[in-house]
Amino acid sequence: MRKILYIACLTIMGAIFFAGCGKNVVVESYSIIPEPVLLTMGNEKFVFSTKTSCYVENVGQNDPSIKYILKTLRQWHFNPSLVGKPEENCLQFVINSTANTELGDEGYTIDIEKNGITIKANTEKGLFYGFQTFVQMLPEDISTVRYRKIEMQTCSVKDYPRFKWRGTLLDVSRHFFGVNQVKKHIDLMASYKMNKLHMHLTDDHGWRVEIKKYPQLNDVGSWRVDRDNQPWGKADPAGKGEPRSYGGYYSKSEIEEIVKYAAERNIDVIPEIEIPGHCCAVLEAYPNFACEGDDTTYTVQFGPYWPPRAILCGGNDSVMTFLKDVLDEIIPLFPSEYIHIGGDEAVKDNWKRCPRCQARISSLGLKDEEELQSWMIMEIEKYLNRLGKKIIGWDEILDGGVSNEATVMSWRGAEGGIAAARRGNDVIMSPLEYCYLNFYQANYQFQPPAMPNSLVTLYKVYGFNPVPDGLTDIQSKHILGGQANLWTEYINNYETAEYMLLPRLCAMAEVLWSPLNVKDWHHFRNKMVSHRKRLEACEYHVGASSYKPWAVSEKLDGGKVKVTLDWEVEGMRVYYSVGGSAYKLYNGPFEATEGTTITTVSFLGGIMKEKPYELKIENK
Ligand code: ACM
Ligand code: ZN
Repeated sequence: MRKILYIACLTIMGAIFFAGCGKNVVVESYSIIPEPVLLTMGNEKFVFSTKTSCYVENVGQNDPSIKYILKTLRQWHFNPSLVGKPEENCLQFVINSTANTELGDEGYTIDIEKNGITIKANTEKGLFYGFQTFVQMLPEDISTVRYRKIEMQTCSVKDYPRFKWRGTLLDVSRHFFGVNQVKKHIDLMASYKMNKLHMHLTDDHGWRVEIKKYPQLNDVGSWRVDRDNQPWGKADPAGKGEPRSYGGYYSKSEIEEIVKYAAERNIDVIPEIEIPGHCCAVLEAYPNFACEGDDTTYTVQFGPYWPPRAILCGGNDSVMTFLKDVLDEIIPLFPSEYIHIGGDEAVKDNWKRCPRCQARISSLGLKDEEELQSWMIMEIEKYLNRLGKKIIGWDEILDGGVSNEATVMSWRGAEGGIAAARRGNDVIMSPLEYCYLNFYQANYQFQPPAMPNSLVTLYKVYGFNPVPDGLTDIQSKHILGGQANLWTEYINNYETAEYMLLPRLCAMAEVLWSPLNVKDWHHFRNKMVSHRKRLEACEYHVGASSYKPWAVSEKLDGGKVKVTLDWEVEGMRVYYSVGGSAYKLYNGPFEATEGTTITTVSFLGGIMKEKPYELKIENK
């Protein structure tokens, strides 16, 4: 009894101690990514505290958005009591009784006034996004430090997205990530208002989803020889009978768990099942789906596989049955409106030699193997349409003809997307020169290994405009948005995946959400200082951006140019030397002779970064 009393006493004392503890802080300005459509600062303060209550209108406290919001606040030791009517010091979540048409179904408004905060939207999605903005108004370390009182500058926000497709692709075939890692990625997406997670589930390097009717896909196709201790591209060949110790796949219940977790965060999960190429994993499991006369022994790959010659036979009816059977199991798992059917990089040498493929081409009166691929994809599309799904395919699906309803994911540049939009197809823009976040983000000498000869800097991503020049207004409406892709050949652990995604995903989020008139590179660069801290507090690994400055020159008279230096990392100090002269600290544009080479060195926090760079001053 004495022991129970003693424990009870300790618990009460603990509760009193914790109720009274926590930091106080004043937040005077906000760094919101993506930048809202309109943010107007006021000049008073609202005190958000453990005493702030919560009021909801036209939405239930058990509806998903409010449940998510309250759970998040509780994790941060704010446990607002729900009140029956608005009162002083209250955080209100309101679904508009009459829709505010400007906001659409994802927009929201926030008013922080002296006496309370109101977040309004037409839908729960809008409330969710309003809450994400509100979270970014709280201290950067809110997820780890206990606060009691946060004095927030009054302001009002009006916000809605520029594009409805704000995607990321996660390649879980080349390297496999567990459910908790995918969930962490989903949280990251949600906090930056991204809404489509494209899971690249099948490829030459592994099949990653449970399919009951074809168990060999998982027993064989999901496993490969482990070469993660060797550089990708320099892997030793597999030994005879060497165990297949690398791999895995998501069980159906794990997929359901991912899809539910994503849905709670307003993210659709789009599965990709590759047709007809990138199929070594299928062909090792079911060699009979290869072309007649193809005597290659296919194995699940563990290093570069180029050119990707493995291809499903386009003349074999049992291949079509297989694909439909697989999709029958995929459809119930993914409520998304779309299924991605791949279609990229299918080398058709085997089809040229295969009597069955050639017989199909002649019996259907097709022109060539490209048209055979189109036939296959359109057959699958019709099948999926009957089951209520639409297809997305990589831009190669245009090559042999495409239906009017297919959505084209443009990756080999913008050209595929432009052609598709001109013919009236919907488009998701994902050109590799802006959107491939598996490419190096800075000088390869200072980065973990990535795709050779690649470079997509933060600045480059920020400059991406998913709507290319040369489209009419009607054609531009077919651009649904864009997507950042993370292929994982060189990314063999989830920490590196984050390192490659960040900070570039933040730039992509602003590209896909914010209107062009509020985008501002230097403001974004400055906001990243705060976001780096916020992300690191949530244990995300944020990559080192490029420390290499670049020069913008403007022609003056007499062979002179005005040189402005710019760079990616806020707070960096750049020293420059013109033609071997003494180094000067850069503090604004300077004049130089055209054709001069300047040398720069970059410092951050007193430490020299990367190496000296030579920049040729062009006359632009
Ligand atoms: C792709 O990068 N092959 C779509
Ligand atoms: Zn064939």
